[in-house]
Formats: sequence, C-alpha cells, structure tokens
Amino acid sequence: MNAVTAFKDPVALAAADPAIRFAAVSKVYSARNGDPAVAALDKVNLSVAKGSIAGIIGRSGAGKSTLLRVINGLERPSAGQVFVDDVDVGALDGAGLRALRRRIGMIFQHFNLLSSRTVFDNIALPLELAGTPKATIRTRVDNLIELVGLADKRGRYPAELSGGQKQRVGIARALATEPKVLLSDEATSALDPETTRSILALLKRVNEITGVTIVLITHEMQVIKEICDQVAVIEAGRIIEEGPVYRVFAEPATATTRTFVSSVTGGELPREIAARLRPEAGEARHAVLRIVFTGENATAPILSRLSRSLDIDINVLSGQVDEIGRRPFGNITVTIPAAAETVGAVTGLIAAHGLKAEVLGYVA
Ligand SMILES: Nc1ncnc2c1ncn2[C@@H]1O[C@H](COP(=O)(O)OP(=O)(O)O)[C@@H](O)[C@H]1O
Ligand SMILES: [Mg+2]
Repeated sequence: MNAVTAFKDPVALAAADPAIRFAAVSKVYSARNGDPAVAALDKVNLSVAKGSIAGIIGRSGAGKSTLLRVINGLERPSAGQVFVDDVDVGALDGAGLRALRRRIGMIFQHFNLLSSRTVFDNIALPLELAGTPKATIRTRVDNLIELVGLADKRGRYPAELSGGQKQRVGIARALATEPKVLLSDEATSALDPETTRSILALLKRVNEITGVTIVLITHEMQVIKEICDQVAVIEAGRIIEEGPVYRVFAEPATATTRTFVSSVTGGELPREIAARLRPEAGEARHAVLRIVFTGENATAPILSRLSRSLDIDINVLSGQVDEIGRRPFGNITVTIPAAAETVGAVTGLIAAHGLKAEVLGYVA
C-alpha cells in the first residue's frame, strides 16, 4: 500500500465525525433603509472533521464572514441548522450561547486587541470574564505566551508590537479558554507574505498540539494551500465546490476555483502564450497541455518516455512541484504537436500513468 491509498479523505472523515455541521443553512439580511434584502448564505451544507483544518475561500461579499458568524451564534440562520459537537447553535438560549462561545475561539484580520492592556492582560481577558481563578490564569497565560513565541513581550502594549506579533496575541487569546474550535476571519490578510507564512505555521502547530478544529476563511488560495485539509469554495452565498484540498487543486470543477488554483500552482500560462492561445486547433502547430499529478508519480520520466516513444518534441512552458493537502502536487504546462492523433496518444498515455492532462488550447 502506498502513501496515496493510505491517505484519509478529510471530507469522508467529516461526514463520519463532524466538529461542525451545516444543514441547509440560509441567512437573509432583511431590507433596510431602501437597501434590498441580501441572501448571504443559500442552503449551505458543510461538515468539518474533528481536529482538521478547513478552509472557506471566496471573493469579497461571498458570505464568508456570515458563514463563520453563524457557527458561534453571532448571527442566527434564517433557515436550516448549524451543529457544533451535535449541539444546535440556533436553539441555544443566552446562557447556552455564552457556554458555546467559551468552546469557540476567534481571530480577526485587524486583531481586535485592547490597546490599554498588555500582551499578558489581553490574553487573560477571556479567562477573567469566565471567572477563572488568578493562579490558573497566570499559568495558562504564561504557557500560551510561550506557545506563540512572545515570551519577551509579556508586558508590552499592542502599539509596541508588529502585525505578526499582534496576531500571535490574538491567537493566544483565542486559545485561552481551551476551545474545541478556532475560527479565523482573514487572520493573515493584513500581513505581508513572510509574516503570513509564520502565522499559518503557528496555526498548524496549534492544531497539531491541541487538536483544535480550525475553520479559516480567506480570499487567498495560498492560505488554503499552506495548511488546510479540506476546502469549500463559496460564491454568492453558495458552496460551489468542496473537497480535500489536493483534489480541488488537481481537479477544480468551476471557473472560479480554477482561477483561485492557478493563482498559486504555477498553472498560469506565460502571458505571451496566453495571449496567443486559441480554442480550436485550426492551422496551429502546437497544442498546450497542462499535466497535473497528485501522487507519487513524477512527470519528468513520463515526458521523456513520451517524447521518445512517439518521436515528438515536448517543450516545458512552466512547472512547479509542491506539497498540497499534505500530499505531493505537481503542475506542468507543455506544448506538443497539434495533430489530433498526437494529442490523443499523449493524453491517453498520460492518463494510463495515472496523471491528468488537459488541453488548454492551441498556438500557431
Ligand atoms: N449585518 C449585515 N446586514 C446586511 N447585510 C450584510 C450584513 N453583513 C453582511 N451583509 C451582506 O451579506 C453579504 C455577505 O457578506 P459577508 O458575509 O461579510 O461576506 P465576505 O466575508 O465573504 O466578504 C454581502 O453582500 C454583505 O453586504
Ligand atoms: Mg468577510
């Protein structure tokens, strides 16, 4: 048995043992001051496996924040139900909601720290509100400060911290009540790429150490690629695509997802080629082919074998090998002769090797 067959499908796991489950959830913001009503969520079905990291990606206004806010009861569904650990969030009263929110931490794009409180006191706040004994607060906050790497900033105020350090405080604060679920609303969107990577690495470590289930929303596929196990794509309040991250990267089913995916996989064509690409072969001399692999199969030996056995020239336009959804993922774009029988033979042989090939178009 190889690594591929041993891989557990996070979506199948989610169905079996969900930490969070959406059952036909809709949310309508009613019309106000002459503005029309907005269907922010439209019959959303979604399950997130215990202990996994799930990403929700969509453009601005797609309904991402609303989706997150119905999980901790900040918004109530207009229809359908959200379950956290099999508890129907919409059915909770005030006390039930407060108890639920202690089990759900949240981090934000703009950190939402209290400027008049030190790092220690910001992290301690949820524990003070929960009436936790002082000695327990001290031990737990010190441990969290250690975990997020801010031991030398304990007494500093937010204004004295970098963006990345502020988000580390945000993460520690969200973990203070030892939640089962951590919600992240664009937590890295205000950070530079380098800091984003370090915060994502921290979230992954927190997930591994504490087993906390993480749901993060983002408009950046890079974020999904770095740490998520499963991903759902949301557009106009609807989940238009969902699956294990490696599969959505390998076989994006919608144009929206393809755009997100090609922004990070090197699947984007060189501009000069893209401008000349035509949908029909016509008189064109070359077909442009994208080859995707997600398992152990490497493309290089296959390409040279193809080139030799069919006696054709294969030119590599772009290519990248990555790890996505904890599996190897490669994406390579090549040109081959445009003759229909050649294209057929090449795609057939590639498929026979367990890889995917897609004809993107033709160039003269
Ligand atoms: N409190 C609200 N009242 C009315 N409309 C809202 C409210 N919150 C969000 N919306 C609308 O719902 C849609 C989804 O918003 P949101 O969930 O914030 O999307 P995203 O986080 O993906 O940008 C948008 O059209 C937004 O204008
Ligand atoms: Mg939002």
